[in-house]
Amino acid sequence: MEITGPGLILALKVAVATASLLLAASAVALLAGRVRLHGRINLVFFAAVVITLVGFEVVLRLVNPGIYDWIRDDPDLRLRLRIHLCFAIPSALLMPVMLYTGYRRKRVHRVLAWIFAVLWLGTAITGIFGLPHD
Ligand code: HEM
Repeated sequence: MEITGPGLILALKVAVATASLLLAASAVALLAGRVRLHGRINLVFFAAVVITLVGFEVVLRLVNPGIYDWIRDDPDLRLRLRIHLCFAIPSALLMPVMLYTGYRRKRVHRVLAWIFAVLWLGTAITGIFGLPHD
């Protein structure tokens, strides 16, 4: 089976939606007062996102470097991708910080959590609804 740009984007959309479910479950755990469970779910969330990002992006770009050229060649799609990356890159960078602060800097974690929530929501919305997959 040949891997196409739109096929890859569709797979990434499913991955983002699945990760969002994990994040929602960790928020429910928090609301129920299960802080340790929140931490454990988010450990899985973190591992799943890192594995997906490395697997899909880095490996595929090495195997098939031109896979996103069709987006770069279209000004409208390029803008949509740029907007998506405004959320996706900061939220990816914040993830290890969230893990560290969750265990070691609880007060900082509570402040960063709001920023992370906005960035993740932006990543999911601009990725799932803003990027083309057909
Ligand atoms: C986005 C919304 C999030 C909110 C509102 C939130 C909030 C919280 C709160 C209130 C605590 C308890 C801090 C305390 O005990 O004083 C906590 C703990 C923790 N959080 Fe989050 N968090 C969020 C996202 C994340 C993310 C994305 C991660 C990891 C990638 C994460 C990892 C952790 C960890 C590891 C703990 C410590 C659990 C333990 O003590 O066993 N959190 N979080």
